[in-house]
Amino acid sequence: MRLLLAAILPLLLAVDVAAVKHEDFKECHQTSFCRRLRSIAARQEEAVANGTAFASPYSLGNPVATPGTQSAASWTFPLTSSLYPDISFNLRVDVLAQGDGIVRIRADEVDSASQWKRYNETAKWALVDAEPNLARSVDVQFAHVDGMTAIEYGPGPAQELMLEIVHSPLKITMKRDGMDQVVFNDRDLFHVEHYRAKQLDEGDEAEAEGTEAASSEDAAQAVMQAPKAEKIDRSWFEEDDKDAFEERWKKWTDTKPKGPEGFSLDFSFPNADHIYGLPEHASPLSLPSTKGEDAYYKEPYRLWNVDIFEYEADSPMALYGAVPLVHAHGKVNTVGVLNLVGSETWVDVTHQPEGVRTHWVSESGIVDFLILPGRRPVDLFEQYASLTGAAQMPPQFATAYHQCRWNYNTQAEVIEVQDEFDKADMPLDVTWLDIEYAEEHRYFDWDHKHFPEPKKMLDEVEAKGRKMVAIVDPHIKKTDSFRIYTDARDLDVLVKKADNSDFDGWCWTGSSVWVDFFNPKSWDWWTRMFSFNVWKESSKALFIWNDMNEPSVFDGPEITMPKDNIHDGGWEHRDVHNINGMMFHNQTQHAITVRDTPELRPFVLSRSFFAGSHRYGAVWIGDNLGTWDHLAGETAVFLSNSIAGISFVGSDVGGFFGNPTPELLVRWYQAGAFMPFFRAHAHIDTKRREPYLFEEPTRSYLRDALRLRYAMLPVWYNAFHAAATKGYPVIWPHYALFPEDEGGFAIDDQYYIGDSGVLFKPVVAEGAQESTVYLAADQPYYDYFHRKLYYASAKPRNITIATPLDQFPLLIEGGHIVPTRERVRRTSSLMWQDPFTLTVALGKDGSATGQLYLDDGETLAHTQGEFIHRRFSYTPTGKNGAGKLSSAAHVVYDGANAWAQKIAHVKVERIVILGHEAAPSSVTVAGEAVQFEYTKPVKGREPVPGKVVIKNPGIKVGADWEVVVAA
Ligand code: GLC
Repeated sequence: MRLLLAAILPLLLAVDVAAVKHEDFKECHQTSFCRRLRSIAARQEEAVANGTAFASPYSLGNPVATPGTQSAASWTFPLTSSLYPDISFNLRVDVLAQGDGIVRIRADEVDSASQWKRYNETAKWALVDAEPNLARSVDVQFAHVDGMTAIEYGPGPAQELMLEIVHSPLKITMKRDGMDQVVFNDRDLFHVEHYRAKQLDEGDEAEAEGTEAASSEDAAQAVMQAPKAEKIDRSWFEEDDKDAFEERWKKWTDTKPKGPEGFSLDFSFPNADHIYGLPEHASPLSLPSTKGEDAYYKEPYRLWNVDIFEYEADSPMALYGAVPLVHAHGKVNTVGVLNLVGSETWVDVTHQPEGVRTHWVSESGIVDFLILPGRRPVDLFEQYASLTGAAQMPPQFATAYHQCRWNYNTQAEVIEVQDEFDKADMPLDVTWLDIEYAEEHRYFDWDHKHFPEPKKMLDEVEAKGRKMVAIVDPHIKKTDSFRIYTDARDLDVLVKKADNSDFDGWCWTGSSVWVDFFNPKSWDWWTRMFSFNVWKESSKALFIWNDMNEPSVFDGPEITMPKDNIHDGGWEHRDVHNINGMMFHNQTQHAITVRDTPELRPFVLSRSFFAGSHRYGAVWIGDNLGTWDHLAGETAVFLSNSIAGISFVGSDVGGFFGNPTPELLVRWYQAGAFMPFFRAHAHIDTKRREPYLFEEPTRSYLRDALRLRYAMLPVWYNAFHAAATKGYPVIWPHYALFPEDEGGFAIDDQYYIGDSGVLFKPVVAEGAQESTVYLAADQPYYDYFHRKLYYASAKPRNITIATPLDQFPLLIEGGHIVPTRERVRRTSSLMWQDPFTLTVALGKDGSATGQLYLDDGETLAHTQGEFIHRRFSYTPTGKNGAGKLSSAAHVVYDGANAWAQKIAHVKVERIVILGHEAAPSSVTVAGEAVQFEYTKPVKGREPVPGKVVIKNPGIKVGADWEVVVAA
């Protein structure tokens, strides 16, 4: 029966390609902590409307320097709630050295009589250092008078940042230049459920409630400071107590041995107009309200990593990953909050004339959040990276094109697919294998009937300069004949049920178990599983795809693990759920890194993610539908993931489900060529749709998109390098690049690649013959293909671009120099010595700059200084575009390093200067004249830029040089 189910389950899942099954996933009111904690906000909203707002029952005592910190940048305050006078909490405030003063605030119950402890290890997994350095005491000034604490900190002597702590009722305000940026507990919704024992039988409840009511009466007196304040009632905070101790949903019972331990945080951003973040949701980038009159969504944004089948293109429902980070943005300031919580979390957003308000409710864990001061989005990226680390530099192949499908079924088929790409003159770097490569979905074990000689296949692929990726999912087939299962069982590293027996559930492979990657004992073992001695039928050309790591459990509640499952250290699954996928990704990435000596750059794709996952590789946005509305919605998802670090991101090109029309497929490839992660993928039941299968003109359009990606690989590599060194996103939304331009704050359907000045907008509507593009910069914008020149002088700064099926908006903002490689190759590894084209897009003032970072794309030698990093500048010297184009080192590096020498012969074969108003009289390099062609500008309503094309200027890309363009 089980076998049969395993065989038909994929088919069952494949039918009815319509819409998500809402009934499989909870809404807030179906989960007791969310209901309970969200109702506090509802009561307060009502009370505010009636003029009877209640005040927070929480207050702080006098601060003490945090023991053991030896620093005046960390203080601990006793924290009490008048509702529970007997329970003690403390609240710790740290001013960190990072980011000119990131503030960290933690709160936990102390001296609890309970045997339980709240989960306090989220920081350990999300941050590179769970205890980041504190600011030096000289950078921080502290004053405490009469129930009020002021901490001044921040960059420079001006101490422009301040934390103002009002002790009772508790309120913490982060100010910059005297203006409130973040107000914690602004609406008095902060609440931490304290541990309490499950005491009552149903019959006893009424009596006990009476007792509680009496004591809450006293408590209420204590907090009734405002004359007309609503009487605060303890029962508000304990509502729903029955479900608090054991919760049933459908056929599942969550035993909740610890009882309720949720918490509610409220942050207002009085000077923000927009709020971004909280990935992963298929929502607009600028998060719309979930409450109030203008509510766009009826539910809060949910962070609870799930395998969501046929998700909706516009919804606050939880998807596969979670980063509890927001950017609150206004014209003058941007500020961030990172909430270190791995348990289920729901966030309400409301937009008010007084700014943006958020209310976060989480099921378990300590309170531990960080306020990132900004002041601008670029600073937030750096501050976030100072906490969570930067992304890794991907291997070159990973930034090129990936061909996947569920499934390439045989060894011969794999070879055939790549041969077909060659025949069609279409570039390809990676061919992927989904779950059917593995015998009974026992990952690592090749199905030898269909893949008789996997090593031979891998070697053949590698011989063409290409790679492969195979899937390794976290569910492990529970059968004694499978060594991965018996090893993990014997090592005792499996996730446990509440009764401490090994948990088993259902997934692709049938009855399965899951390794607990929170258990350090699993780490070395997992690493060994990928070593070439152990996984003999693998090779260094084989990389890994980690899917289903939310984790997906087909017969579990909400298709995942029961919350009362147990992980290492006795922590419950509820505490760590959102972190789970990252643990698996991390360990696989490590295994792939160390399997070779010297180590090579790893590549591991993950579906699930958490804050910090960018350190471990790429993600994709899961099982999208091959529909226009999915294509349209995805850009915002990429941008939202990107600003939270998860910027090596893409979608299944063509859509996972369904059979896109040729037009939709072309548009998806055009979009895909501009996704940081560019992979075509399709469900097992879809029609084959490799790009070489199509008739003209579709075939050419698909080829054009692929070739464009390859030509622009240097642009992408620059952007990945900035992500790896500075923590910048690979693709930038408008608000991040133009933080003062209000017209762009809500834009999430077009973006820039790194700092290249390249602006892309996918065409996402059927039959679209033109597209409107927003031009933020006060600069000319040049069509990438030199067809047109655009300038937006009027507000809104929109222009219209013709977009027949073979065209789409791709522009270079004036002032940028874009390096490309135009030779057509079958794979990126063959491009390492290809010559470059530099496109100089002159800015309004006749100048332009750009950069080029290059390394071997494969090893870790770049971390030892083996790279080149050039800075190109065009400096005007006279009228009509006359000037000098020069190349110099962008950062200090040893120009004689091995890689620089290896590519010393690589040329710049062409320079294109766009925006040249008149023909130059000469172009010279080191005093020698070089050939050029000039095309005059076309003026009028449809202007075309003047252009100089310099062929073979005789310069090397890695050298210092100067090209002089005389008027
Ligand atoms: C999941 C993945 C999908 C994959 C399938 C089979 O649905 O999201 O990409 O093809 O599992 O492994």
